[in-house]
Amino acid sequence: MYYKNDTGGIMKLFLKGIFNDCFKHEDSNLLYNQLSAMKKKIKRIAVLTSGGDSPGMNAAIRAVVRTGIYYGLEVYGIMRGYQGLLEEDLFKMESRSVANIIQRGGTILKSARCKEFYTPEGRKKGYEVLKKNEIDGLVVIGGDGSFKGALNLSKEYDIPCIGLAGTIDKDIAGTDFTIGFDTAVNTAIDAIDKIRDTADAHDRLFIIEVMGRDAGYIALHSGIATGAENILIPERKTDAEAIITSLQEKERRKKLVNIIVVAEGDEYGGIELYRLIKERLPNLDTRLCTLGHIQRGGSPTGLDRLIASRMGYHAVECLLEGRYNVFVGILNNRMNYVPLEQVAKRKGRIAEEWMKVVETLSA
Ligand code: F6P
Repeated sequence: MYYKNDTGGIMKLFLKGIFNDCFKHEDSNLLYNQLSAMKKKIKRIAVLTSGGDSPGMNAAIRAVVRTGIYYGLEVYGIMRGYQGLLEEDLFKMESRSVANIIQRGGTILKSARCKEFYTPEGRKKGYEVLKKNEIDGLVVIGGDGSFKGALNLSKEYDIPCIGLAGTIDKDIAGTDFTIGFDTAVNTAIDAIDKIRDTADAHDRLFIIEVMGRDAGYIALHSGIATGAENILIPERKTDAEAIITSLQEKERRKKLVNIIVVAEGDEYGGIELYRLIKERLPNLDTRLCTLGHIQRGGSPTGLDRLIASRMGYHAVECLLEGRYNVFVGILNNRMNYVPLEQVAKRKGRIAEEWMKVVETLSA
């Protein structure tokens, strides 16, 4: 990130020149940011939640607010994500503003998807609101779309942004966990276990569609944990013929209770697969159940509360240390700071290794 025509930009280039031989690119960025942080001194920060909500966002907000206050900062909450920012809907938060929320699903700051913030004009408006309210740093809790907004804002204006991965989809590379994923998986497990009871009572085949947008992690984890007979995920090509053949073979040996967990992003999806099976195997008693938004709600699991608290704490530390424009992930149980510029969709390398587990255990 270079700011042409300003002394900061020149300084940054200079530092890069000196240190690039000794340090990695990010180290020279960090050094530059630390120097400007010393000059700038972060006094007031703001936090918002953006995109689809996820259980644990409240725990993350709590951690940001309490850590900020602990370090003597003023912390502002922005309502309804970037939409609230553009409308200057923000308020000062105190320690007690976040009392009794760690166990609650949803987000006390509410969330939204804001089209206007995709535009340079929208971000200019956002920056002006931040400037007017003397906000020195912004913590954005959301998914990769929300991180893109933060990246553009930080590129165009001198506002350090920190991202916290809050999404049930776990579709962001560079972190083993995203806030809300574990709760969503456990909610799906709970529902699938219940469905298996009734499937068993009636000798039925159930197709259960779970969320995840274009990622199959919820399907994979909940499917393995419930002993699903098949798991269909977008990271792996779905062989519908093989599924039909195996169901025919099971029908012959009277194994009629079967659970197929399908990720919503799979090429077939729940409805298509249901139609195909109804057409090709009309004698099977088949039902379709789409779990839907139930997976986004509910009290966060212990794991989600823990990672949200840890990430929220480190987000504030990042701002204070001058580690700007990164998202805070956890990789191999260590904090991992990924430059927002490098935020990438997690791609499907999971498939082969995990699918072998699925095939072996459901054989
Ligand atoms: O990204 C979270 C998520 O719940 C996805 O799993 C799902 O595809 C999408 O959001 C649903 O979005 P909406 O709440 O806008 O219907």
